Amino acid sequence: MSTNQRDIEELEKIQQQQHAQLFAELPRAVGLFKADLYLYQGSWLPPHILLGAMQLQTHFKHRSTDIFLSSFMKTGTTWLRSLMFTTLNRSRFDFSDHPLLRYGPHGCFPVVDVYQSTGYPIGDSEDLSFPRLFASHFAHNVLPASITDPSSGCKFVYVCRDPKDVVVSLWHFILKLRPKELPPVSFDQVFKAFCEGVTEYGPYWDHVLGFWKAAHESPDKILFFKYEDIKSDPEAHVKKLAEFMGVPISVQEEDNGMVKKIAEFCSFEHLTSLEINKTGFQKITSEYGIPNHAFFRRGEVGDWKSHLTKEMKEQIDRITHDKLKDSGLTIGATPES
Ligand code: A3P
Repeated sequence: MSTNQRDIEELEKIQQQQHAQLFAELPRAVGLFKADLYLYQGSWLPPHILLGAMQLQTHFKHRSTDIFLSSFMKTGTTWLRSLMFTTLNRSRFDFSDHPLLRYGPHGCFPVVDVYQSTGYPIGDSEDLSFPRLFASHFAHNVLPASITDPSSGCKFVYVCRDPKDVVVSLWHFILKLRPKELPPVSFDQVFKAFCEGVTEYGPYWDHVLGFWKAAHESPDKILFFKYEDIKSDPEAHVKKLAEFMGVPISVQEEDNGMVKKIAEFCSFEHLTSLEINKTGFQKITSEYGIPNHAFFRRGEVGDWKSHLTKEMKEQIDRITHDKLKDSGLTIGATPES
């Protein structure tokens, strides 16, 4: 064995010991997918994501032009990925031979959350086009201050969604991805864990509030969207995205129907019709991946009505009301409505 190889193995051993010590010290809970969750800086994270957070915090080298898509799981990330990429690159690619058709929404730009065994976060890749787009489910306070500080120049698009629809979407996602050898989880279990905040990247409400407050402090750096608003007027949101990302829609583009074209290209109907989203696969770690079709289900507002009991609805609306009451933000219905 070469000296270099021995050094690498020694380093890996030390890192493993350090990680084992870190995990032993953190509060721990059962995760809904497969791995246990650890409470790190206020967020419940599985090990490979927790290590990813530390890696990002230590090593990520931002560029002032970087744009991040930030979201909690199941709030519309796949949709926003498509909209951001297509809007930003609308003059670069022909819609009939487009990266979205070949790679799918998750293949068009990287997620920075997952621990990279290379030792460096994925964002250090030099070959991404400019401005670089990244996606992350990390809470605002977990992201490195070097990028969240408005002086960094980095921008964020955030999307939130009615938590009642998020929990339903999450349950279906877990059903699709949980290893078959584990016992299935019931909707009641997922609902309880979600309300307690103990699901991957949870608590949901703290996640939303972190970005909401930051968006108020720096509206030019954080664009805050609600899934329901995009549903009711996708074209208006394409225009907002274009403006925010520094590539406003021109009068000529508008007259030529570009906004409508982008909205339709990224619509649920179009994305689900693509072969890449029926058969494609996203590699997450060397041992784990997610089939693209798992990111699509119904794509509707209010599907919670066919899953939540009256008591569940009241419980989750009460949490939302209590958590957001001083923030000026409303999502989903409040107990009074
Ligand atoms: P449902 O499970 O309610 O259908 P994420 O991308 O953050 O994982 O969120 C997934 C949710 O967004 C799923 O919600 C999925 O169906 C929906 N979705 C995916 N693509 C969409 C699109 N183009 N338009 C609207 N909703 C979409």
